[in-house]
Amino acid sequence: MVQSFPEASPMKWHQAHTTWFFETFVLRPFLPDYKPFRDEFRWLFNSYYNSLGEEAPEKQLRGSFSRPSLREVLAFRAHVDEAMEKLFAGHIHDDAARRVMLGLDHEQQHQELMLTDIKHAFFSNPLRPAYDANPLVGAGDVSPSEFMWHRFHDRVTEIGYPIDSTNCLDFCFDNETPRHKVYVEAFRIANRSVTCREYLEFMSDDVYARPEFWLSEGWEAVRKQGWRAPLYWERDAADSTGWRIFTLRGWHGLSALLDTPVCHVSFFEADAFARWRGCRLPTEAEWELAASGSAIHGNLLDTGRLHPALASADGLEQLFGDSWEWTASPYTGYPGYKPLPGALGEYNGKFMSGQMILRGGSCVTPAMHIRSTYRNFFPPATRWQFTGIRLAA
Ligand SMILES: [Fe+2]
Repeated sequence: MVQSFPEASPMKWHQAHTTWFFETFVLRPFLPDYKPFRDEFRWLFNSYYNSLGEEAPEKQLRGSFSRPSLREVLAFRAHVDEAMEKLFAGHIHDDAARRVMLGLDHEQQHQELMLTDIKHAFFSNPLRPAYDANPLVGAGDVSPSEFMWHRFHDRVTEIGYPIDSTNCLDFCFDNETPRHKVYVEAFRIANRSVTCREYLEFMSDDVYARPEFWLSEGWEAVRKQGWRAPLYWERDAADSTGWRIFTLRGWHGLSALLDTPVCHVSFFEADAFARWRGCRLPTEAEWELAASGSAIHGNLLDTGRLHPALASADGLEQLFGDSWEWTASPYTGYPGYKPLPGALGEYNGKFMSGQMILRGGSCVTPAMHIRSTYRNFFPPATRWQFTGIRLAA
């Protein structure tokens, strides 16, 4: 039931809430005679859907739910699993199937959040426990990719997911639609993510103390939060770089991770880094155009590494996995965007203000979950997700 800061959730809550999603949006409307596990759960494990009626508890109080017990939450889960089996045994309406797809993708999002929340909780614990006691495997004698630009000429292109609305098993989130035309000026995009070595140079150049590189809100965040390095970096005299990094596999000296992508930086830090290098962040249209020809292959959750890995091949690397890449694009609806009908319209649509788009997934994103059209979004000061930087110009 640990909740180390208000934006994170306890593991028990994630388990109950993903179960609640199926009970609320699939079983109650589509399984005749479904008996809810416990009536209060209808509002207790609601995250943010206001149109369901009853008010949900304050997010920051989730860590105070000592009851229901984990045993009861697991019984809730078993109850819902059993009812889902019943649903699958009969004829399934297309609308129910669409919601099952959404429920599965929702659960994958929470699987990623569980790992980022555990990482923060363990970092907040004075004992600094490791989620996995096996240390990160080094790169051996693999040499890291040189920084290179990939050039794209100007063009009209299409972005967004081309959903087949006649196929209820074709899935994307509503915010990836409609597919539409955009005009893209000629641009360059980096072959790989910014590395810890490059970020250390940015820190050594004292950029955290130089307001000229920062957006106004970013500079305010630097001063208020006292940012001097990415989240999970800590001074360590025992390492030749003077730093160590907390990972899901415990502490590692920065010297062993210098060529791996920097992660746990905010949009403001990504933006300041790009400006310091005389570059900028890619727009989401540029990112999607660059990624649209690439197979979904990379250091995603399924590799089991649980931390970004160095780039060592040719071509455009690390688009999928390693770290989410901040883009220069604010999170808004695409032209003609329509949220899903009913309460599920609150899934994505109502968050379209004050957040920035991230692309490509991270080392804790399930591989089945990501695609080139996928639009993640977080407020610009967010650092507890695996968020990194790719340069554009
Ligand atoms: Fe959720």
